[in-house]
Amino acid sequence: MNAAQIAQKAEGLGPWFQNLDLCGVATAPGHFLGDYPADKFARFAHLVPEDLTGKSVLDIGCNAGFYSFEMRRRGAARVLGIDTDARYLAQARFAAEVLDMSGVEFRQTGVYDVGALGERFDLVIFMGVLYHLRHPLLALDLIREHVADDLMLFQTLTRGPDSVAVQAPDYDFSEDAHFQRPDWPRMAFVEHEWAHDWTNWWVPNRAGVEAMLRASGFAVESGPADEVYLCRTAEVPFAKYGPHAVYPSQGDAAR
Ligand SMILES: C[S@@+](CC[C@H](N)C(=O)[O-])C[C@H]1O[C@@H](n2cnc3c(N)ncnc32)[C@H](O)[C@@H]1O
Repeated sequence: MNAAQIAQKAEGLGPWFQNLDLCGVATAPGHFLGDYPADKFARFAHLVPEDLTGKSVLDIGCNAGFYSFEMRRRGAARVLGIDTDARYLAQARFAAEVLDMSGVEFRQTGVYDVGALGERFDLVIFMGVLYHLRHPLLALDLIREHVADDLMLFQTLTRGPDSVAVQAPDYDFSEDAHFQRPDWPRMAFVEHEWAHDWTNWWVPNRAGVEAMLRASGFAVESGPADEVYLCRTAEVPFAKYGPHAVYPSQGDAAR
């Protein structure tokens, strides 16, 4: 396929969210974040193991496949990209063909259905999806339970301070001051739209992101760099967390 044919096909598959370089043809040259995601990747690429030889990768919310292709370039033996949007998957499949990316598979399914994949992965990529979900903690729990075997590369939109409040293990019922702190773990709920996009549901602060990761069984290994974390699977720190938590009956719980 020559450049004119690639450009024509790419235009027919548009609009693109990710700006891929398809043999000199840029798929989203006017992206509001610049050369996205290449510019972003350059700011956090050092978090990702450079050599993924023989590893398996699951890219959840893969879009047009930018991160799937980058992980394959780092030597991953198997890369599966999943997304709920068929239009993005058509872009990803076309890009794989142009870039001659064998070993990368794309499948239409969503994060709530990762259990049905029946497979665990050395590296799960979960970038730019959490804030689009109505049930973000459920998604993290499902990833931890069913597909994450070791590492997770994670990003979510965040707003608020960079500082993280130190949390006491417990607080008295009447204490309120900690709730007023902007660096207390919190997540803003988007009832209508955010950034002209009704698919946005939640905007956490940094403390909220890190607390949710811990609560779902992910230890932050490095980051954040440009909102991106490299996490490793870990035990959930308290019995109340995780899909198998057993809650005390109301009479047993301290109120
Ligand atoms: C903001 S884009 C991020 C794309 C890519 N991961 C990145 O960081 O550039 C969000 C992507 O998540 C996909 N998505 C939304 N809800 C999803 C779900 N429940 N399961 C899997 N993917 C989903 C969208 O179709 C879209 O491709």
